[in-house]
Amino acid sequence: MKGAQYLLLPGPTPIPQRVARAMDRPMINHRGPVFKEILEEVIDGVKKIYRTKEHLLIYPASGTGGLEAAVVNFISPGDKVLAISIGVFGDRFAEIAAQFGAQVEKMDFAWGTGADPEQVKARIEQDKNGEIKAVLITHNETSTGAFNDIKSIREALGDHPALFMVDAVSGLAAIELRMDEWGLDVVISGSQKAFMIPPGLSFMAFNERALKIQQKNQNNKYYWDVSLGLQYLAKGQTAVTPPISLYYGLQEALRMMLEEGLDNILTRHAKYREMVRVSLNAMGLQLFTEDGCASSAVTSVLAPAGIGSNGIRKYMLEEFNIILAGGQQSLDNVIFRLGHLGYVRELDLISVLAALEITLLKFGHSLELGVGVKKAQEILQNAKAD
Ligand SMILES: Cc1ncc(COP(=O)(O)O)c(C=O)c1O
Repeated sequence: MKGAQYLLLPGPTPIPQRVARAMDRPMINHRGPVFKEILEEVIDGVKKIYRTKEHLLIYPASGTGGLEAAVVNFISPGDKVLAISIGVFGDRFAEIAAQFGAQVEKMDFAWGTGADPEQVKARIEQDKNGEIKAVLITHNETSTGAFNDIKSIREALGDHPALFMVDAVSGLAAIELRMDEWGLDVVISGSQKAFMIPPGLSFMAFNERALKIQQKNQNNKYYWDVSLGLQYLAKGQTAVTPPISLYYGLQEALRMMLEEGLDNILTRHAKYREMVRVSLNAMGLQLFTEDGCASSAVTSVLAPAGIGSNGIRKYMLEEFNIILAGGQQSLDNVIFRLGHLGYVRELDLISVLAALEITLLKFGHSLELGVGVKKAQEILQNAKAD
């Protein structure tokens, strides 16, 4: 018997029953009063998760669509852009900007680390004439399991006028982010991560400063045009036909998130990170990121020497119906990634860690059964005692 699957990807993530049931409802008129109420509730709810009172639009799109929306609205062809990258998704944001004609200067940091605010500060201080129009950065680099210290990097920009644009697709609601308090101008996220609903919605928040810049933007656009989106939002509608079922799901997921409380959600994700990291260490595995920049959304692990990470994933899938993510690009077959964001339950993690121990033994890695599971249990026990 195969039994239920354990989906431990850094997106898409498991969906709670409440959300699945909420989505199983008939279609309604997206230009009618019921949808208007749903739209207003979800815009308000997503803003709470962003900790913003600024503008927010929801696009029927994946996270990449949200990144493209940000680029086409807030960066004009020829603009100089500083793109900070610590992995695949930092590279992607830079590439989208380049595709739309920006002059992109990459600032790369080693994969597995976070960007150094001091180096960013030094580069920004050189830009005496304010030639850099935007700084692009990833909140949580899903490909490596490292996160950027967004608050410190924003502080490093000081009063430089560049727009600070953050890809928080996989980080939002798993790792702290305070859009207004930290002075973030544009923040993008996606539905299939900590929001606990299927892929298909992208959220983009932007402040008044960004909106002013958008109004002078030179790109041709229609689908992504913020002005169009805002015009419809003022009437309680979306510019194009929305994926209504996803809105039902989002409404229910936000109710769950607000019932739990954002601070509690972040604490829960931090606990998952600890459980996983301490347990993997105890199994004698090497983690790909240092503790200081280790993500609460996803953990990357190096496969033991001589054992490909894809073999481990294949065995876990075939024997236990556990779905783990592989490494991307140069990390393919080198690392595997355990996603622990959204609707992941603590006992699921314990089960997955137990199965991983059996798998590692099968591949000849030496360990004592239970050594990692015990560590995770201890963290859980301590958390319950608090
Ligand atoms: C940080 C980050 N940015 C962007 C994306 C792209 O999102 P999508 O695959 O939904 O287009 C992802 C997807 O995993 C991501 O993790």
